[in-house]
Amino acid sequence: MNTDQFLVKSELKRIDKASFTWQTPSNIALVKYWGKNNPQIPKNASISFTLNNCHTITTVDFAHKQSSELDLESEKVVTFNLFFEGKQKDEFKPKIAEFFKRVQEYCPYIFEYEMTINSTNSFPHSSGIASSASGLSAIAMCLMSLEKELSAELSTEFINKKASFLARLGSGSASRSIEGPLVVWGKHPEIEGSSDLFGVQFPHKVHSVFENYQDVILLVDKGEKQVSSTVGHKLMINHPFAENRFKQANENLGTMSKILQEGTMADFINLVESEALTLHAMMMTSNPYFILMKPNTLEIINKIWEYRQENNSAICFTLDAGANVHVLFPENEKEDVVQFIENQLSKYCQKNHYICDTVGFGAKKL
Ligand code: DP6
Repeated sequence: MNTDQFLVKSELKRIDKASFTWQTPSNIALVKYWGKNNPQIPKNASISFTLNNCHTITTVDFAHKQSSELDLESEKVVTFNLFFEGKQKDEFKPKIAEFFKRVQEYCPYIFEYEMTINSTNSFPHSSGIASSASGLSAIAMCLMSLEKELSAELSTEFINKKASFLARLGSGSASRSIEGPLVVWGKHPEIEGSSDLFGVQFPHKVHSVFENYQDVILLVDKGEKQVSSTVGHKLMINHPFAENRFKQANENLGTMSKILQEGTMADFINLVESEALTLHAMMMTSNPYFILMKPNTLEIINKIWEYRQENNSAICFTLDAGANVHVLFPENEKEDVVQFIENQLSKYCQKNHYICDTVGFGAKKL
């Protein structure tokens, strides 16, 4: 695999101070990534809708270290401070320190700066919505903004590709949070340009029914995740169904590619729901085993099925590695479905809380 393309080869300028702010979104997978090899190489290709309203805004201030400080360091160290929602958050530092360790080979300039990271999420931290995809993609974009200032002209295409590559090293799904509205990550024979190293925009023309597709996130359980993704992916090692699952996911991605181009809604609904339930089936059949759905998750799924049948609707659901439910539907059903959610589903959410989102277009520089 050609990771050399991401090494810094040109001479870098010296800049004393710089500051960049990026807004990057969360995403929701239609075909799921579950299982990986080192270093952050997915066992199968995945595809997601980029979201719009669920995002992270991150500013990174870079201040060049004094020459004396740099000379003194016998070993190179990455120096950073981290603030989340205005407060210093040392408990988040190990994950970011690990991220910097993984990217330092590709971003050697980080040793030369003291970095101050200020981050906020548009969604509540304790909502059960994973913030690693939006959080790490935002830092990756800030690093690429610095790299652009330091080196000769870099193309937007390269910046996005390398940002996705860096974000992936922090969290796999973060590689799918740089662009939108549909991103594939993982090498797949039917997706031209696809790679295990970074996400690429879905290369085909998508049927108009998927324009402005809606995602309402029902917050069934806002607690800390019962299974972290690091633990979760490891469950696929020696899992009795792993090889079949990876094969199935790649086949599903091929099928999904056709569905997205043709707009065959019944097939879309079937595949998206089957992927969600398969992800949870993998967790139920691993050892140790987990049930991440809550009783209210099942209540909601049954209500969605009833509503779909009674109203001839294209509503469907998907799930992350948790109890929350993502309700997906076309824009022309928005008024009716939001009414249905408010009247019949919000009671299954903690404090009746749900978030209305729509498909988005990726990272924005602020
Ligand atoms: C169930 O990207 O959070 O959301 O690479 O360990 O950070 P790490 O895992 P992560 O896993 C996401 C799993 C998923 C499915 C998906 O988004 O494809």
